[in-house]
Amino acid sequence: MKTKITEMFGIEHPIIQGGMHYVGFAELAAAVSNAGGLGIITGLTQGTPEKLANEIARCKDMTDKPFGVNLTFLPSLAQPDYPGLVKTIIEGGVKVVETAGRNPAEVLPHLKDAGIKVIHKCTSVRHSLKAQQIGCDAVSVDGFECGGHPGEDDIPNFILLPRAADELEIPFVASGGMADARSLVAAMALGAEGMNMGTRFIATQEAPVHENVKHAIVAASELDTRLVMRPLRNTERVLNNDAVQRLLEKEAALGKDIQFDDIKEEVAGVYPKIMMEGDMEIGAWSCGMVAGLVNDIPTCQELISRIMTEAEDIIRQRLARVGA
Ligand SMILES: Cc1cc2nc3c(=O)[nH]c(=O)nc-3n(C[C@H](O)[C@H](O)[C@H](O)COP(=O)(O)O)c2cc1C
Repeated sequence: MKTKITEMFGIEHPIIQGGMHYVGFAELAAAVSNAGGLGIITGLTQGTPEKLANEIARCKDMTDKPFGVNLTFLPSLAQPDYPGLVKTIIEGGVKVVETAGRNPAEVLPHLKDAGIKVIHKCTSVRHSLKAQQIGCDAVSVDGFECGGHPGEDDIPNFILLPRAADELEIPFVASGGMADARSLVAAMALGAEGMNMGTRFIATQEAPVHENVKHAIVAASELDTRLVMRPLRNTERVLNNDAVQRLLEKEAALGKDIQFDDIKEEVAGVYPKIMMEGDMEIGAWSCGMVAGLVNDIPTCQELISRIMTEAEDIIRQRLARVGA
């Protein structure tokens, strides 16, 4: 399937694996890219330029296909060395960067000068337009359904994607709630040039996370996510668990007076324990409503091939029949 996104990134299929903290390591990025999609290493999980350089090199050992690096700008306790990370990305010969969080104006000129394509992930039409205005090549439009940070507007993709299509001139992919061929074909019908998946890619053979995480996603239904940190305007969609219940109780009790320190125990530094050690109740971790559509743990190759084959069937058979 050829779209503006496959052409722009030099990939076979219009499927991107979004950056994911403590999930987006070289193993997953390479597996997605080898299967014809665009795999993405999560820059901040590596933390330092030296470690990121090593991860980029490891990914290059595992694939000769294009892959990207995610740079997330979110409120954090210690400010990462963004200039150093950008330098490493450029020196590592990475061809695509996925930015997220606040707008990437500061790093954009350096990336563009190096010939790197930048896809900015954001959760509203106005932020998408801003990304276009400052010179991003594409946008990943992340609907309210998404795992991670859906922003504060709460607009689901059935509205957000056609709104983006009406306003944007640069290509965009649909992100949030995407799991299968139906997602891809629907996203394309709504104006997207492909799709970005997070949660679905965690439940794959190659995702280098504890088996407990994969099984938790397969076991979860679409009813099992919760929104946390809304009073701090740093809303995150996470899988419900004991820590999330504790966190929500604190939010209810403290109301608008809540501070980050009050919920530190449930959110700060919990990812390694969850993703690496499989301690599923220790803290809040991002997960999309799309968990309700995830029922197996295939290889990335199986997943992407299945999506592309079934997408062709939907377009050539089901939709053609309806159109006749
Ligand atoms: C466990 C997890 C960690 C994530 N970490 C990041 C991150 O560090 N940076 C980022 O830009 N997005 C992050 N995301 C968001 C994904 O890249 C993607 O936009 C989102 O998962 C799409 O929604 P979906 O889960 O419904 O597919 C994360 C998502 C998950 C599930």
